[in-house]
Amino acid sequence: MKQKFSVVIAGGGSTYTPEIILMLLDNLDKLPLRCIKLYDNDEDRQNKLAKACEIIVKEKDPDIEFVATTDPQTAYTDVDFCLAHIRVGQLPMREMDEKISLKHGVVGQETCGPGGIAYGMRSIAGVLENIDYMEKYSPNCWMLNYSNPAAIVAEATRRLRPNSRVINICDMPIGLENSYAQILGFKDRKEMDIRYFGLNHFGWYTSIKDKDGNELLPKLIEHQLKYGNCPENEAEGNYTDDSWMETARKVKDLVRLDPTTTPNSYLQYYLYGDDMVAHSDPNYTRANQVMDGREKRVFGECARIAEVGTAKDTTLEIGIHASFIVDLATALAFNTHERMLLIVENNGAIENFPDDAMVEIPCIVGKDSYEPLSIGKIPTFQKGLMEQQVAVEKLVVDAWIEHSYLKLWQALTLSKTVPSANVAKALLDDLIEANKGYWPELK
Ligand code: NAD
Ligand code: LMR
Repeated sequence: MKQKFSVVIAGGGSTYTPEIILMLLDNLDKLPLRCIKLYDNDEDRQNKLAKACEIIVKEKDPDIEFVATTDPQTAYTDVDFCLAHIRVGQLPMREMDEKISLKHGVVGQETCGPGGIAYGMRSIAGVLENIDYMEKYSPNCWMLNYSNPAAIVAEATRRLRPNSRVINICDMPIGLENSYAQILGFKDRKEMDIRYFGLNHFGWYTSIKDKDGNELLPKLIEHQLKYGNCPENEAEGNYTDDSWMETARKVKDLVRLDPTTTPNSYLQYYLYGDDMVAHSDPNYTRANQVMDGREKRVFGECARIAEVGTAKDTTLEIGIHASFIVDLATALAFNTHERMLLIVENNGAIENFPDDAMVEIPCIVGKDSYEPLSIGKIPTFQKGLMEQQVAVEKLVVDAWIEHSYLKLWQALTLSKTVPSANVAKALLDDLIEANKGYWPELK
C-alpha cells in the first residue's frame, strides 16, 4: 500500500483553501493523505472556513484527520508537506499597495511594481517564520510555497534560508497553458511539452510541442496576434472575470513586441504600464474586486455548509490551477520525474544570466529533488528586461535585511513601472507610512 501523507496548509484562512482541499481530496489516488491541517495566525479568519473544510474532508474520507489551529507546534508537528499561501497584511493591505501606486500615476498591482515591492517587504518575515516552524517541528517536511510576491520571497529564501526544503512555485503558467491548450485544440495542457524561461510573473514560452515533437509555437503566436489568449469566440474562454479577459486580450500587444516567443501576461504591467494605469480605477482596484467577489462568495458558501452540516450540494469548485501542488508533491514523494516550472537559482541554466538570480524555468522533479533544464543563451531584449527586474528584487531583499531606505528607494527607482527617482521617493514615503508595523523600520 502507498504511504499516506500529512499536509499543513499555511495561510489556512485563505480564500483558496477550500478549493485546494477539494483538489487534494480529488487526487487521493495519486497522493494518499492521512491528515490535513489548517494553520493561520488569524483565528477569526480561519474559522470562517475551517468548519466547512472539516465537513468536506469528513464526507470524503472520515479516516483523514482534520485539524485547524493557530498553534505552530500543533500545525507543524508530523507533517510531510506544507502548502504555504500566506498574505501578510491580508487584502486590505493589498488595497493600500494598489491605491497608493495609482495615486502616484503608477501601476497598482499585487506583485508587479511598487505594490509587489511593498508586499515583498511584508511577506519576507512571515514566510521565514513559517519555514522556521517547519524546520523545528518537521525537519523532513517540504514547503511548497506559493505565497506572493513569489520572486522576492524566493530571493529572500535563497539568501536567508539557503538549505531549507522550500520550493517556490506559481500557478500562473497553469492558467496560461490551459488557454494555449484550448487555442491549439488539446484536451489537457499536459498533452504539450513546453520550454519557458524568465523570472516569476516575468517570462516567455519559447517552445510548445505536441507529444510527437511537432512545434506549435508559430501557430499559437499567429492566433495570439489576432485574439491574444482568448479563443476566436471570446465567450468560450475560461476567464473567471472581466479583468482576466482584458489581460488575455492584451497579450496581442505583448506578442507584437516579440513575435518569436509568447509572454507571461503579467508583462503587460511592465511593458504597457501607461495603458494599465489608464484602465485602472484608483478608487476600486483588484483588491476590492477580490474582497467583493471571491472572498464574499467563498466565506458565504463556507458559512452555509457549516450551518446545514453538509457539503453535498456545494458550489465550491476544485482548484484546477492548484493541481500543480499535487503534481509537485507527488513527484517529490513518488519520483515521477514530471517536468514542472519552478523558481530556482539559475546556476548556469540560463547561460548568459547571473548564477545567483532566482529564475522560473522547467525542472525535472523526482524523489526529494529537482534538476533544472539547461536553457542556453537568451536574447538581448528579454535579458535586458530580466536584469533590470532581478536587480529590483535583490535590492528589496537587501533593503529588508539592512533596513535600508536607500536600497528601497533604488529598488523603486529601478522598477520599469516607475518613471523617475522623484516619483519613487514620494511613493516610498507613502508606503512606509502605510506599512508601519509590517516593514522593518528603514534608516
Ligand atoms: P488571503 O488574505 O485570503 O489569505 C491569506 C491568509 O494568510 C490569511 O488568512 C492570513 O491571516 C494568513 N497569514 C498571514 N500571515 C501569516 C503568517 N505569518 N502565518 C500564517 N498565516 C498567515 O489571501 P489569498 O488571496 O487567498 O492569497 C493567499 C496567498 O496566495 C497570497 O500570497 C497570494 O498572492 C498567493 N497566491 C499565489 C498564487 C501563486 O501561484 N503563486 C496564486 C494565487 C494566490
Ligand atoms: C488574486 O488574489 O486573485 C490574485 O492572486 C490574482 C488576481 O486575481 O488578481
